[in-house]
Amino acid sequence: MAVGWHRPTKLVIDTQAIKENVGNEVKRMPKGTELFAVVKANGYGHGAVQTAKAAREGGATGFCVAILDEAIELREAGFQEPILILSVVDVSYIDLLLKYDLSVTVATQEWLEQAIEQLTHIEPQKPLKIHIKVDTGMGRIGFTTSEAVKQIVELVQSEKTLIWEGLFTHFSTADEKDASYFEKQTHRFQEILSVLFELPKYVHVSNSATALWHPDNVGNMIRFGIAMYGLNPSGHALPEVYPLNPALSLVSKLIQVKELSAGEGIGYGHTYITTANEWIGTVPIGYADGWLRHLQGFSVLVNGELCEIIGRICMDQCMIRLPRQMDVGTQVTLIGHDHGEVITMQMVADKLETIHYEVACTFSERIPKEYK
Ligand SMILES: Cc1ncc(COP(=O)(O)O)c(C=O)c1O
Repeated sequence: MAVGWHRPTKLVIDTQAIKENVGNEVKRMPKGTELFAVVKANGYGHGAVQTAKAAREGGATGFCVAILDEAIELREAGFQEPILILSVVDVSYIDLLLKYDLSVTVATQEWLEQAIEQLTHIEPQKPLKIHIKVDTGMGRIGFTTSEAVKQIVELVQSEKTLIWEGLFTHFSTADEKDASYFEKQTHRFQEILSVLFELPKYVHVSNSATALWHPDNVGNMIRFGIAMYGLNPSGHALPEVYPLNPALSLVSKLIQVKELSAGEGIGYGHTYITTANEWIGTVPIGYADGWLRHLQGFSVLVNGELCEIIGRICMDQCMIRLPRQMDVGTQVTLIGHDHGEVITMQMVADKLETIHYEVACTFSERIPKEYK
């Protein structure tokens, strides 16, 4: 995709904020615990390689990604730390897992049996690092019973071509006030641990929410995702345990300013009609950039003043109502701080009736990223 380097719209990513967010968690986590930075989905839209570098500076000792290609991207950028792929990789790519020294999630016995079969054909022999996934109540991937886990562990331990590196689960409600389901999942995981005679290097259960609000229950590795980008995993539900520094801002500039008299329609379908003489500014960002149509009626900041987005958001542009005439080239802040005022990703998420995770991942590759 062509990146809009020659357009004034950009994401500004504060890598120092990421480093600090990771560093604050590293200082706080129990001794002997490691922090793996979750940089899947292009670092939650912040850029995987640059955020991984910042996380490493903050004290991350490994990385988690969702798909094989994301892991390869990190290796090709020179990262030598452990990289765990959190979802299922097709067994036909075992040669790539070995080539790039990646750790992979095992979620079914069939997958493991096929992997063992594949490994016998690979020369020279090299062991595959695996993390066994236990589904304690997320209903997504993983083994659901103690017997199944025990059986899979026995199989893993009998195979010289495998290194049992990890055992893990994932909580579905760690970001909620009511901890009863979290405790149920914890109990199930404890039951599974109790039937095993040996444990691998990493036993891990913790996403950001678990690390923040259940710090006694993190295992010996934390999979730190959304909080490293400075966003409260719970949205509004739970207060931050320590201040998280949001890393992402979105800015643009006015490309046209015009005065319209009363009764003029703005944008496709004329869903906004001026009611008096109004100053209208055009901002070069639209739904093709991930600035979605549902943001009509939301506001952006110009010189610290809130300006409403009026009319339908177009593919590449949108219009805002200015309080007065302003110069073409004036900065527009869509997310971030401006003259003491702020628009947060959470506010955008609230308007879109979604979560900030989704907002961060929705920005299109067309918007260039500037790292500071
Ligand atoms: C298995 C797993 N672990 C950890 C994370 C990181 O979660 P968070 O971004 O809430 O910290 C995710 C994110 O979706 C995940 O799927």
